[in-house]
Amino acid sequence: MTVRSASQGILSDDNLAKRQELVELLKKAYWMEMETVMSYITNSINPDGVRAQEIIESLQEDIQEELGHAQRFASRIKELYGVVPGSLEFNAEQSYLQPPEHQTDIVHVIKGVIEAETGAIEHYNRIIEFTDGLDFVTQDMVIDILHDEEGHRRLFEGYLREYEVEGLA
Ligand SMILES: [Fe+2]
Ligand SMILES: [Fe+2]
Repeated sequence: MTVRSASQGILSDDNLAKRQELVELLKKAYWMEMETVMSYITNSINPDGVRAQEIIESLQEDIQEELGHAQRFASRIKELYGVVPGSLEFNAEQSYLQPPEHQTDIVHVIKGVIEAETGAIEHYNRIIEFTDGLDFVTQDMVIDILHDEEGHRRLFEGYLREYEVEGLA
């Protein structure tokens, strides 16, 4: 007896091309999360000063969440018959989260985090739209992750507001 494919949804033979396209979108998401883990480790260690502590603690928490996102994207890549890429395929993009000239420059870190979260929000919205009516499982997963990113962005916008009020940002 031959094993038959699902006749509907992202696993159906008819959707092979779309599935491959989706796997590429998920790989990009995976790398974004991995780079964010790296950048948040960096920026949760480097900052100096009394006011840096809140940012440090906040980023320390986020690292675990972003790592969890990376693992979820990786699992979904495999479920869709893709292969999770190896480290040599990684290309860094987060120029805005490199260490600032002065480690007391907390505004630089806050703005960098907002930029990273905004990029994730944009890419995940794209995946949610792409999967609409096609792959509800991926869509559901990415909506959940998007919710986390929107929360992260809002939190750091709040931090930035404090500096803006004081004319420091
Ligand atoms: Fe994330
Ligand atoms: Fe995030």
